[in-house]
Amino acid sequence: MEKDDCIPLFETKRMKGRFIYRLFALSIFVSIVLVWVYRAINIPSECGSRLVWMMMFAAELWFGLYWILTQSVRWNKIYRVPFKERLSQRFEEELPCVDVFVCTADPTIEPPIMVINTVLSVMAYDYPPEKLSVYLSDDAGSQITFYALLEASTFSKQWLPYCKKYNVEPRSPAAYFSAFPQKDDADQASEYYLIKNLYADMENRIELASRAGRVSQEAQAGHGGFLNWHSYFSKGDHDTILQILINGDNSDDKDVEGCSLPTLVYLAREKRPRHFHNFKAGAMNALIRVSSEISNAPIILNVDCDMYSNNSQAVRDALCFFMDEKQGNEIAFVQFPQNYENVTKNDLYGNSLLIISQVDFCGIDGHGGPLYVGSGCFHRRETLSGAKYSKEGLAKLTRERAIKFKENIQELEERLKFLANCQFEENTEWGDEIGVKYGCPTEDVISGLSIQCRGWKSAYYNPEKMAFLGVAPTTLDQTLVQQKRWSEGDLQIFISKYSPVWYGVGRIKLGHIMAYCIYCLWSPNCLATIYYCIIPSLHLLKGIPLFPQISSLWFLPFTYVIVAEHIHSLVEFLFSGGTILGWWNDQRMWLYKRQTSYLFALIDTVLKMVGLSTFSFVISDKTTDEDVNLRYKQEIMEFGIPSTMFTILASLAMLNLLCFIWLVKKIVADFGVGYAYEYMILQTLLCGILVAINLPLYNAMFWRKDSGRMPTSVTCKSFFFALSVCTCYAYLY
Ligand SMILES: *[C@@H]1O[C@H](CO)[C@@H](O)[C@H](O)[C@H]1NC(C)=O
Ligand SMILES: *[C@@H]1O[C@H](CO)[C@@H](O)[C@H](O)[C@H]1NC(C)=O
Repeated sequence: MEKDDCIPLFETKRMKGRFIYRLFALSIFVSIVLVWVYRAINIPSECGSRLVWMMMFAAELWFGLYWILTQSVRWNKIYRVPFKERLSQRFEEELPCVDVFVCTADPTIEPPIMVINTVLSVMAYDYPPEKLSVYLSDDAGSQITFYALLEASTFSKQWLPYCKKYNVEPRSPAAYFSAFPQKDDADQASEYYLIKNLYADMENRIELASRAGRVSQEAQAGHGGFLNWHSYFSKGDHDTILQILINGDNSDDKDVEGCSLPTLVYLAREKRPRHFHNFKAGAMNALIRVSSEISNAPIILNVDCDMYSNNSQAVRDALCFFMDEKQGNEIAFVQFPQNYENVTKNDLYGNSLLIISQVDFCGIDGHGGPLYVGSGCFHRRETLSGAKYSKEGLAKLTRERAIKFKENIQELEERLKFLANCQFEENTEWGDEIGVKYGCPTEDVISGLSIQCRGWKSAYYNPEKMAFLGVAPTTLDQTLVQQKRWSEGDLQIFISKYSPVWYGVGRIKLGHIMAYCIYCLWSPNCLATIYYCIIPSLHLLKGIPLFPQISSLWFLPFTYVIVAEHIHSLVEFLFSGGTILGWWNDQRMWLYKRQTSYLFALIDTVLKMVGLSTFSFVISDKTTDEDVNLRYKQEIMEFGIPSTMFTILASLAMLNLLCFIWLVKKIVADFGVGYAYEYMILQTLLCGILVAINLPLYNAMFWRKDSGRMPTSVTCKSFFFALSVCTCYAYLY
């Protein structure tokens, strides 16, 4: 019989059917090479068409090489299964302390009521409260957020015992009350309504304060913490504010049942106009320092303020990875997927990133661990502080204990403030060798990469019941802008000194580098895609074929790549839990992201490289009204604003529509079906599919009457643009 402590705390399963998949991938690879060969040996001699041909070749080279990158995450997918019962049996008494960092930056975009719902949901984890500490970093230094947190600290005294008594899920009060608008069980009902009313009252008070833009005098008089705002001039100019709202060690801070509560801390680091604050990375580093003097837990969970915990067991799940005797020592962080509660059935904007969370990350895990994506991630404190991998991890986890408060709370707060001051990091390694890295919009990814380059592994865990739920963008514009930000950040990683290519070589595996490159090279995809959306369609006008004819043998590899890859992507999508319509929507978003978000990201990055001041194309509109929400629920695409991105989408869609109409007319009038069929079937197909996938866009331009339709100015612009391009091309070229 095996000894008890030899049974692993988690299991790693390999994907099934790997062999079949690899055969399939090989067949695609061969076809891609044949496509390249066809391009290489059929280069036309005439100068103009040679250019067009070579660009087609370049686009196909890019697609093929990028496809090879994407194979890295399909080659060796693994799935993790933690065993929480074993963890409890073996370690219940010596579970390590856990610090939770919640970051917020703006009380208007991230309403305080949402922030405290996230805070309450993590305070209510099924975990010994004396071992849990929750830190809120408020980069706006907003009195209203502080007030909301103060209210939450009072409410938690009722909420936590209620959650534990009835084992409720989810433990964000807002999510819980909206999932269970009423309770009829005799024993629970009275308490349920009591708590629900308490929550509603609290929500009201916070809403009132938010709307008034300030906290009432009575409320301010009730807590000394508000005195800190005496030195507050603006969001960008104030002293450090540090308040320990619940002291987990204090006998006065108990819940209504007399049990301990998690420690709860509010931090607004010092801000000065002349001092650059490094956004969320700066906030994380201040939290790491301040928490090291308060609770100093060896495990840190980092969540965004809009991502509440939907699973009170998530801490225990994560600990199974860290505490496993055999493999746990090398794991630096455990990343959970980012899920969204507001995703509709067919996910019109592809927000759930299904393939990334169900396929890509399982594949990266097989190469040494997922990326750190900035939220829903458990870290070892020591790795964030720059430690290299060594074999003593586990001993450290259980040995370290929370630092007890030796002094009076006010003194402690005063003593620790300097840790979050602007000058603290001057002439230190913070932001470079220690803590989260600075200097890049996607600092999380770089920090994760550098941890892996120091010899650590990471683990990806995607539980059935989602662990963290956030709010997805609900308009096309928001999604495209978000994608622009991400792809731009990732491209900057690629060209920075921390590029997975030159920084990773020799430190992490080749497959791992390739997997990182899938994201880092999102943005350059735009060029090949846009070329493919314009040139073949225009050549239909002139009757110039760019692909092999149906009677040629070269027709086969082209067709095989196109058909087999799309069938594969559909099957993969369905297996990942999507719907057929969802897949079609995802394909559309794939196209739209490449036509706009990635293009803008590329242009911005190039402008920055040549030293031109950054020129911002797009402003994201965060307000969503009733109509917008209704259309989102009905899965009707939202345009409505005259953004540059929409002009590009509309122009490309219009161009393909004109070419398609022209072709249909030509077939009917002059040539008969055979013309398009024999001679240019692939080109016709490409144009036809582009038209089909753009149907919602045409609908928004020509038929819809609601406020989410395409603005007339955009429609006109795109029409004239497309018409002039087609005319020039047909008559001049
Ligand atoms: C999210 O979805 C829920 C239910 O569909 C809805 O009540 C809520 O208003 C939505 N929130 C946002 C920000 O769209
Ligand atoms: C969130 O938690 C609830 C309650 O356990 C569960 O029913 C629901 O499926 C979870 N949501 C998701 C998206 O997994």
